[in-house]
Amino acid sequence: EEPSAAMAVPQAGQDGLLLLQRVGVVDPFSIDDYRSHGGYNALRTAFDIGPAGVIREVTDSGLLGRGGAAFPTGRKWQATASQPDRPHYLVCNADESEPGTFKDRVIMEGDPFALIEAMTIAGYATGAHVGYLYLRGEYPRALHRLENALTQARLRGFLGDDVLGQGYAFDIEIRRGAGAYICGEETALFNSIEGFRGEPRSKPPFPAEKGLFGKPTAANNVETLINVLPILTMGAEAYAAIGTENSTGPKLFCVSGNVERPGIYELPFGATLGELLDLAGTPTDIKAILLGGAAGGFVRPDERDIPLTFEGTRAAGTTLGSGVVLVMDDTVGLPRTLLRIAEFFRDESCGQCVPCRVGTVRQEEALHRIKDRTGAAASDDVALLREVGQTMRDASICGLGQTAWNAVESAIDRLGAFK
Ligand code: NAI
Ligand code: SF4
Repeated sequence: EEPSAAMAVPQAGQDGLLLLQRVGVVDPFSIDDYRSHGGYNALRTAFDIGPAGVIREVTDSGLLGRGGAAFPTGRKWQATASQPDRPHYLVCNADESEPGTFKDRVIMEGDPFALIEAMTIAGYATGAHVGYLYLRGEYPRALHRLENALTQARLRGFLGDDVLGQGYAFDIEIRRGAGAYICGEETALFNSIEGFRGEPRSKPPFPAEKGLFGKPTAANNVETLINVLPILTMGAEAYAAIGTENSTGPKLFCVSGNVERPGIYELPFGATLGELLDLAGTPTDIKAILLGGAAGGFVRPDERDIPLTFEGTRAAGTTLGSGVVLVMDDTVGLPRTLLRIAEFFRDESCGQCVPCRVGTVRQEEALHRIKDRTGAAASDDVALLREVGQTMRDASICGLGQTAWNAVESAIDRLGAFK
């Protein structure tokens, strides 16, 4: 059997955790154990304050989406709830595929009932009666645990025609992805559920207006939804006091690579990169840190003071993305890593639009040509990479093409690759 989720949480059992409080502590197969660890208190609060009250709390909490794009969750829920068109749908995006990202997996494996409770609250707030949980196909353990949790929740009246006797009907269906990174893009994900090719749609219209089956849809990442539980149990004001003014609450960070204690870490927004690296234990000979995953960017080991907030990483010219912190020491070859990232984007491009379909191929070819070169010998291809990269960024339909050059650009500009 694979190592359990708890092994990926070095802080398991520590006091003060909000998102990881039960991971590695609670029995993920037992709804009773979940309830004895605070489970379903947030749903009761939601029923007490009503849908508008839930949206108000989430808005006041300042919660920003944790899938990578940091859109205000309260605004998204309000935009969905206010649509007159019916039915409304809720979608939980659990197609976690950004290289280096494994936070949602740890939550789903270690605390599956929490996600089901959070989806029920989100459905209640936005007026949905069906929630789809779109799960990454490569997560069989999470699937097994979520299916068991759904069965128990239905048996105990936490899902179904009359949730907790409150007159609200809600149930959840799981849909499994089939290995395509692009299906994590929300509109490609809708197409996939509807039985079409996983190709992104043009936005706007945003899903809040026209989403799954053309109906108003709130689509949220797993970690985003999990945050709603402490927001309701502790109150928006206390939640918003955690973190910084513009990035409120706690954040999960996925630390991997050359560190002594890899895993998921929960820290309040505002901790610095250096503080996180110290927790994970890093060697002295770090060469580079990839922040935000393949769609993110590299930073140098001397940039330890970067605050881990959405605004702080932006001001430092990088991104927090989905919370990836991938550490490379000097045994890792940078050109080979860049080539691997470029291969990934070329493979995963859905091919729908030219800048990305052609650009990702040209990027990979140029990196192949210059992987062993520097200086003048590399300069023509570096110039080509810039031109192709800028075109992908400006003209691609979706985030995949728009970010496919980020890592390479940061390696050239921040780390001095190919100089
Ligand atoms: P986006 O900025 O287009 O949208 C973010 C969210 O806000 C979407 O749900 C969108 O529907 C909503 N939204 C935006 N404007 C709105 C409006 N006016 N009204 C209502 N809703 C609105 O970003 P996108 O393309 O959804 O996500 C890109 C991010 O995804 C990247 O930052 C990347 O880091 C991340 N990502 C995460 C992965 C993971 O495994 N967690 C994988 C790949 C990318
Ligand atoms: Fe497909 Fe790439 Fe265009 Fe996105 S940017 S729609 S992945 S071809």
